[in-house]
Amino acid sequence: MILKIVKYPEPVLQQPGEPVTEFNDELRKLVADMFETTYASQGIGLAAPQVGVSKRVTVIDLSMGKDPAQKLVLINPEIILREGRQYEEEGCLSFPEIREKVPRAATVRIRAQNLEEKWFEMDGDELLARAFQHEIDHLDGMLFIFRMSALKRDMVLRHIRKMQREGTW
Ligand code: NI
Repeated sequence: MILKIVKYPEPVLQQPGEPVTEFNDELRKLVADMFETTYASQGIGLAAPQVGVSKRVTVIDLSMGKDPAQKLVLINPEIILREGRQYEEEGCLSFPEIREKVPRAATVRIRAQNLEEKWFEMDGDELLARAFQHEIDHLDGMLFIFRMSALKRDMVLRHIRKMQREGTW
């Protein structure tokens, strides 16, 4: 089922998600729906708060549905190591059409649970490192506009307000 993606400034986007404690059918359905929603929106990642569910769940698939081996489900994830810097463009399904450069660590190691409740660790660099950081930020109620320079953030927010007035946001 394709879920509705909430856009900024929906309050749920800026609330920290609740840790997941029940690994049940409801969680499996949420994850399946989140993948379907990500592919329908041509995204590479989605966090549960973006579909109005304030839980620490995110899905990532850099292949956008082309390679099942690249499907990643991160439950209760955390970043346990950060190295280096990168500064590349990011977008966010809760900010349609907006792309800006955001400073991130070049490489990160994450720790998360899978749908079977099992903890695992994984390293990512380049785009995967950005996706890890962007999606885990969502679970902390942190949005990529707040990682931009104040100048860029103000430009983006002015642009959003203009679209809101025009009824196109
Ligand atoms: Ni996002």
